[in-house]
Amino acid sequence: MTIDLNQFPKVSLGHLPTPIERLDRLSEHLGGPEIWIKRDDCTGLAFGGNKTRKLEFLLGDARSKGSTDIVTFGALQSNHVRQTIAACAKTGFTCHAILTDIVPHEEAAYRQSGNLLLDRMSTASVNILPSADAASAKLKEITASLDNDKSAYVIPPGGSSPMGVLGYIAAAVEIGQQAKELDLTFDAIVSASATGGTQVGLTLGGQQGAHSAPVYGANVYHTDPAAFEERIEKLADDVCESFGVSRQPQFQHVHGFVGEGYGLPTPAMKKAVSTTFQLEGVLLDPVYTGKGMAGLFDMCRKRVFTDKDKILFVHTGGSPGLFAYQEAMT
Ligand SMILES: Cc1ncc(COP(=O)(O)O)c(C=O)c1O
Repeated sequence: MTIDLNQFPKVSLGHLPTPIERLDRLSEHLGGPEIWIKRDDCTGLAFGGNKTRKLEFLLGDARSKGSTDIVTFGALQSNHVRQTIAACAKTGFTCHAILTDIVPHEEAAYRQSGNLLLDRMSTASVNILPSADAASAKLKEITASLDNDKSAYVIPPGGSSPMGVLGYIAAAVEIGQQAKELDLTFDAIVSASATGGTQVGLTLGGQQGAHSAPVYGANVYHTDPAAFEERIEKLADDVCESFGVSRQPQFQHVHGFVGEGYGLPTPAMKKAVSTTFQLEGVLLDPVYTGKGMAGLFDMCRKRVFTDKDKILFVHTGGSPGLFAYQEAMT
């Protein structure tokens, strides 16, 4: 049984389909395979990114339930929160952002610029909390403070609820259609993975016939690979249970690129960001896509793919984060 995406209410947010481009100079630099890129950094909503697709379904669900307010979470430089704030601005929801100050990156710009600057330019309430416990308490406080004719819709970190994952099942369908139009077959899809919605959606989309490529999720989130894999499995189970579909558990993970922790720069990330910019003019980001691309570079070096393989890197956005890592990136 497949998930019929048309049965779910949506709001329209993205410039879709996003382009797929071949990165000739990067492919040549790596000595093969053929690298292609899916430009989900160009979804059009406040610097774009992967959350736009998830939010189309999440805000559609919130609207159908009569919610007036959206509450969501992230780290101080969350791309998810920036896009949620922008999506709420466009659709008229009141947005409450709960940012947890958990990344020990000590440069001034991290607390002033990048995504946080954009959050502060909005009308959303931006609440900065020191721990996960304090963030939970803030959530309770916000929901309790809403009066009777208002109701909150809570979006988990990264928008990775089953509803949010639908956005990347839809992306898998889009990739399948574009591959057909380009008259090619991708041999693998690679993307950065953190809360898992992107990886799970692309993988389940493939399982449902949208494409035939294995999907590699590059873990940029957990220093413990087992904890990361467990999270992905759990999310996939939740999605399949919510929508009444069965699954074969076929997740492919790439480990070794988180470095010392989520949000902390690594030499391989810096190299991947600068090489991709210098050869292709494409801006990655320091937290997600830079580490994901570092994983792909390593797979190419280790000859995981043949020279003729066509590999699709999904650019999930995040470039505003570069401005929060000025010292680290220069
Ligand atoms: C730019 C960017 N890329 C990738 C990811 C990872 O996506 P997911 O949380 O769906 O695994 C995120 C968010 O977490 C992100 O902001």
